[in-house]
Amino acid sequence: MRATAQPPALPQELLRRLRLGQALSSADIQSLVAGISDGSWGDAQVGALAMAICTLGLGEADTTRLTLAMRDSGRVLDWHGLGFDRPVLDKHSTGGVGDLVSLVLAPMLAACGAYVPMLSGRGLGHTGGTLDKLEAIPGYQAQPDLARLRQVVRDTGLAIVGAGADLAPADRRLYGIRDVTGTVESLPLITASILSKKLAAGTDALLLDIKTGNGASMSTLDQSRALARSLVQISTRAGLPARALITDMSQPLAPAVGNALELRCALDYLRGERRPERLHRVNLALGSELLCLGGLASDPVEAEEKLLRCLEDGSAAERFAHMVTALGGPSDLLDPAARHLPAAAVVAPVFAANGGRVSAIDCRRLGMLVVALGGGRSQPDQSIDHAVGLSEVAELGSVVDGERPLAFVHAGDAAAHARAAAELRLAYTLTQAAPTLPPLIHERIEFQTGELPCAVPG
Ligand code: URA
Repeated sequence: MRATAQPPALPQELLRRLRLGQALSSADIQSLVAGISDGSWGDAQVGALAMAICTLGLGEADTTRLTLAMRDSGRVLDWHGLGFDRPVLDKHSTGGVGDLVSLVLAPMLAACGAYVPMLSGRGLGHTGGTLDKLEAIPGYQAQPDLARLRQVVRDTGLAIVGAGADLAPADRRLYGIRDVTGTVESLPLITASILSKKLAAGTDALLLDIKTGNGASMSTLDQSRALARSLVQISTRAGLPARALITDMSQPLAPAVGNALELRCALDYLRGERRPERLHRVNLALGSELLCLGGLASDPVEAEEKLLRCLEDGSAAERFAHMVTALGGPSDLLDPAARHLPAAAVVAPVFAANGGRVSAIDCRRLGMLVVALGGGRSQPDQSIDHAVGLSEVAELGSVVDGERPLAFVHAGDAAAHARAAAELRLAYTLTQAAPTLPPLIHERIEFQTGELPCAVPG
């Protein structure tokens, strides 16, 4: 006898079962994700779903099902089916201030033999976004269609671009509703949101950079560890091998904050003119993990050698230049004499009222200062000023005085400079004694057997 297909359960019935802690089947989860994507679930119902998951949690198996159903809500890219014959690698950061690793790591991975279609986002809150940084390049097309994306990855090995609307559309709607219902901070929802897009992008191996500290979305180590574990577990269960490093975000990772300023820092790094130490160490650590995970190096020593070689022989810089040209930017961006990036009208150092050693930095405040200068958004569709921000940012433990400023502020006019200078001074705590510096890399998280906790620790 043929089994008759069950009609999908009504949204209110699924929500009631969720509220009562009853198990949902795979078909239930697929039907609720379909309801999110096709609009048959109303905003109130999607909001109730987000609140139920946020407050009651979701087990590991259901989070994996939710992630896979969200992946399948739109197009799923298949690179190998199109003849791409090398590993497809990606790195995802939970967001920070002065974190420009993607700009330098993606071309390094490509130079080491990977394909890197890196689908990136815009700035969010106080954190910068890779796409905003790249859009400081005149002509750069951050939203190519799929055919162009494939061509650029085939020709250059990488493309750092925005995710098209057809990738995991269920996440787009769910994220928008979470944003206005106080349900962003939920481990299963964050996990399903991030991973559905990575899985849809056809990645073979994923390295997660989970930030911790006052400039991170998860500020305590416990919270960052819980997020790292959730992402690594669910990613691996969903078929995407993943590892995470928990890295410090209690100060900007690079000495530049702001779109064109971070991009300039990335160009200097690739050309070998200046490699700020903390940025370099985090970049090499993430890159080594990823080359090993993706099978392009047999151990961390070989991986690091490969990464350093592609910096020294210029092949990583060449990859970046090639990608920029292929996506519409100028062909001489990496020429030190070229002047393509916008510069702010007012650039001047800001000194501390009294000298001392930097013992704490309110990193979030620095990020918001750049947003207030116009380098980020207060409204979703607002245009931004790519030129503004901070450079030569003093780091933890350094001495600032009448000669060494806290930073240079790049602003649109003198009044904006003065407001940013006041904020900058408030963001710094100075003492006479040298502070204890936080570890740069706190922990490495690998897949483990066992159930996950579902809630973000308080
Ligand atoms: N980034 C995402 O893509 N989703 C989240 O939920 C949080 C960060």
